[in-house]
Amino acid sequence: MRKPIIAGNWKMFKTRDEALYFILKVSTQMPDIEKVDSVVLSQAPLLRDLVKRQGDNLRVGAQNLYFEDEGAFTGEVSGPLLKSYNVDYVVIGHSERRNVFHETDTDVNLKLHAAIRNELIPIVCVGEHLEDRVSQKTNEVLKAQITKAFENVSRNDAQNVVIAYEPIWAIGTGRTATKEIADESCGYIRSLMKELYDEPLAQTIRIQYGGSVKPENIDELLAMENIDGALIGGASLDPDKFITMVKAALKRTE
Ligand code: 13P
Repeated sequence: MRKPIIAGNWKMFKTRDEALYFILKVSTQMPDIEKVDSVVLSQAPLLRDLVKRQGDNLRVGAQNLYFEDEGAFTGEVSGPLLKSYNVDYVVIGHSERRNVFHETDTDVNLKLHAAIRNELIPIVCVGEHLEDRVSQKTNEVLKAQITKAFENVSRNDAQNVVIAYEPIWAIGTGRTATKEIADESCGYIRSLMKELYDEPLAQTIRIQYGGSVKPENIDELLAMENIDGALIGGASLDPDKFITMVKAALKRTE
C-alpha cells in the first residue's frame, strides 16, 4: 500500500510569527503518525525556523529551487542550500511557477535532476488548463509534462518522486475536480509511469491530487484508488484544518 502524503503549500503567505504559531500548534496537536507523511511547504526564508521545529509527524519543504547548484543567479535558491538546512521536500513545476514565472517543461526536468542530485524529495506538479480539458486535450498535456519532466531520470530516482496532479482550473477557485475526474487523471499519470518505467514503479509511486482540497472534500478524494494524498493551498494555512486533513489520510490507512 502506498503511504499517503498530505502537503500544505503555503504559497506566498505567512509571516515568521504566523508560521511559528502554525508549527507549534500543529507539532503539539498532531498525533504520532507513521503511516502518513505530512509536510508544509513554505517561502524559503521561513525554512530555517521551521526545520528546527519539525518532527517525525511534520516535515518541511521548499516551494522551488534553481537547477544549478551555485553561480551568479541573483534571487534564486539552490539545492545544496536547502539540503544544508535539512529541508526534505521541494515542489517543482507548480502551475504558478509555470504560468506566472514562465517555467517550461525543460526547466522542470532540470529542477527535478537538481532535487535528485541534492537528495531532496521532489513533488513534481502537472495539470491542465480549463481549455485543455474542454477540448479533451488533458491526457495529451499530462503526457507531454510527465514525459519531459522525467527525461533521463533513472528508475531508481523516479521511484522516490511524488507527483501532484493539479488541474489549473481547480486551483484557488473553490472548484474541486470531482473525485472521478481526479482519480481518472491520477490513474492516467500512473499508466504513463508504467510506460516510462514499469508496472511495479507505477504501482508504488505516489500521486497526490491538488486543487481546492479542504476538510469537507478530502475524505472522498482520498478514498479513490489512484489518489495517494493531497497538495493543499488555501485550506492548509489553518492549523486546525491541516490537522483534520492529515487525520483524514490516517483514517484511510486503517
Ligand atoms: P488551493 O488548495 O488553494 O486550491 O491550491 C492548490 C495548490 O495550488 C496547491 O499547490
